[in-house]
Amino acid sequence: MVFFEWKEQYELGIPHIDLQHTMIVNMINELYMSLETREEEDTTSKILEKLLYYVEDHFASEEAAMRENNYPHQDAHLAAHDAFRVKVTRLHHTHRTGEKIAGYELSEFLKDWLLEHIAQVDKAFGVFVSQLSEKAKESFFRQNPDHPLSKNTEAPLVF
Ligand SMILES: [Fe+2]
Ligand SMILES: [Fe+2]
Repeated sequence: MVFFEWKEQYELGIPHIDLQHTMIVNMINELYMSLETREEEDTTSKILEKLLYYVEDHFASEEAAMRENNYPHQDAHLAAHDAFRVKVTRLHHTHRTGEKIAGYELSEFLKDWLLEHIAQVDKAFGVFVSQLSEKAKESFFRQNPDHPLSKNTEAPLVF
C-alpha cells in the first residue's frame, strides 16, 4: 500500500507546479518507507532534509507564480506556507533530538497538510490561472475575430 497516493484530481493544470507536487509526494513516500524499513537514522534524516529543502524551493516557485499573476489571495496563501514552515521546523527539531515518534508524526503531518493544502489552497490558484488564460483567449479572439481559430468566424479551417 502506498502511503501517499497521488491522484489526478490534485492536478492544478500548471505543469511545473504539478510536477513539483508529485516529486514532493514521492519524497514523502520515500521518507515513510525509510521509517518502515528501519533504515539508519542518518538515511532518514537525509531524506527528510532533502524533502524540506525541496518543499522550500517549491513554495518559492509557487509564490513567484502568484506574484506574476497578481493573484488576489496570495497573502492568505503565503500565510499558510509560513504556518507550515513554523510547524515543520518544530517537528524537525524534535526529530533531530532523537525522539523516534517524531519521524512518523512528521511524515503523517507532511502528508495530511500537503494533501489538504494542494487540494484546496493550491487548487484555488490553479482555477484562477485557468480562468485567466480563458479570459486572455477570449480577449485575443475579440480583437482578432477573423483568426482561423476564432469561435466567431464561420470560415472553415483550411490547412
Ligand atoms: Fe504547492
Ligand atoms: Fe501552496
